[in-house]
Amino acid sequence: MNNFIFSYPTKVYFGEGIAKQAFAAELGKMGERVMLAFGGGSVKKNGIYDEVKSLLEQAGKTVVDFSGIMSNPTYAKAREGADLAREYQVDFILAVGGGSVIDCCKVVSAQAELDEDIWDFEYGKGKFPVAGIPMGAVVIVSGTGAEMNAGAVITYEEKKWKGPILGTAASFAILDPAYTKSVPPIQVISGAFDTLSHAMETYFGASDKDNVSDSLALAIMKNTVDNMRRLLKNINDMQARSNLMWDSAMAENGILKCGRLTDFQAHQMEHQLAAYTDCNHGQGLAVIHPVYYRHIVKDASEKFARFAKAVFDVNTAEAGIEALENFIKECGLPTKMNQLKSAITITPEVLRQVADTCNIIKSGPRELSRDEIYEILMECM
Ligand code: NZQ
Ligand code: ZN
Repeated sequence: MNNFIFSYPTKVYFGEGIAKQAFAAELGKMGERVMLAFGGGSVKKNGIYDEVKSLLEQAGKTVVDFSGIMSNPTYAKAREGADLAREYQVDFILAVGGGSVIDCCKVVSAQAELDEDIWDFEYGKGKFPVAGIPMGAVVIVSGTGAEMNAGAVITYEEKKWKGPILGTAASFAILDPAYTKSVPPIQVISGAFDTLSHAMETYFGASDKDNVSDSLALAIMKNTVDNMRRLLKNINDMQARSNLMWDSAMAENGILKCGRLTDFQAHQMEHQLAAYTDCNHGQGLAVIHPVYYRHIVKDASEKFARFAKAVFDVNTAEAGIEALENFIKECGLPTKMNQLKSAITITPEVLRQVADTCNIIKSGPRELSRDEIYEILMECM
């Protein structure tokens, strides 16, 4: 085991109908001016906006709306939010959404209390924010686990870069599976695949043998696959949605990462692919994972074999990757670049740029070269 320090900044309220209890406990701690942050409008259609806003107003809060946070949130949007937070001197930020809204708010919170540009501060000076406007998260689409960590993933459009930036962690998160009822089925499945990816990417990082995190990661992968299969039979199976919502939080709240190094090379390729194409996160991962794993299987053959048995009940490393690929097809997720919804046509030139700019992970089974990343991306065509 590597040394580690572990603590939870986020209090989790989990379960159907939990929001009332959560708000009753948290409203008093929020301060008077609350920024209510949300995405492109789903919250207005499904009634969650009205429900949350009226709870805030009944408690005497002044509500400042911050709307239109897009999937793959941009740095410009985070700056807009920080300006708004400063202008209205908000005391608390309530993010109502998925990974995109929550991540954007993490940066809004930290930037609003920082006198300099947070991107230069982190990427230029290598410093990290120590203060931020307190925030909470109401999760209405699950998969990323963004509600239980301080890391945001933001697209800096002008720099053609989608990457991590540290912001503020939510002090509480409301995980009510009923809030996900209106999520389009393909997004439910794409989000769940992201969860599966997080557990796989953690597991395939370098670690000493028999680290308990490996066993936990395999359990989360198996549970995620089982419950995705339940949803494929009945997308409204609320027990399966609940299980997946907690799998999602568990995969990214840091527990799996204690005492070990992680891989996350598939994520690095996907994030940079999204910087160019604005593709859906879980779907981009679905395309990349099997191809990437065929490249590295010989570098971690024992771990791949253990994964194959534990998650898909097949006996060899290669059969495990094949089972993963078949599972992706069974889910109706994209398996090729041209099946991704993309802002631009994905050409070899675009993929060369993605390969030339994405982060390269040193702690995975093997450090890839840029040419091999290009090869992997081209094999996804
Ligand atoms: O914008 P609206 O109209 O709300 O629509 C959203 C969006 O189109 C819709 N949606 C959300 N809740 C809904 C709903 N539709 C109907 N009913 C509801 N209840 O779902 C779509 C996707 O939302 P989004 O937040 O973009 O999805 P997700 O949660 O998958 O987040 C993706 C972002 O998170 C980042 C990704 O890179 C991507 O930018 N990630 C964040 C991580 C983290 N902070 O730990 C880890 C991940 O690896 C990931 O990188
Ligand atoms: Zn992810």
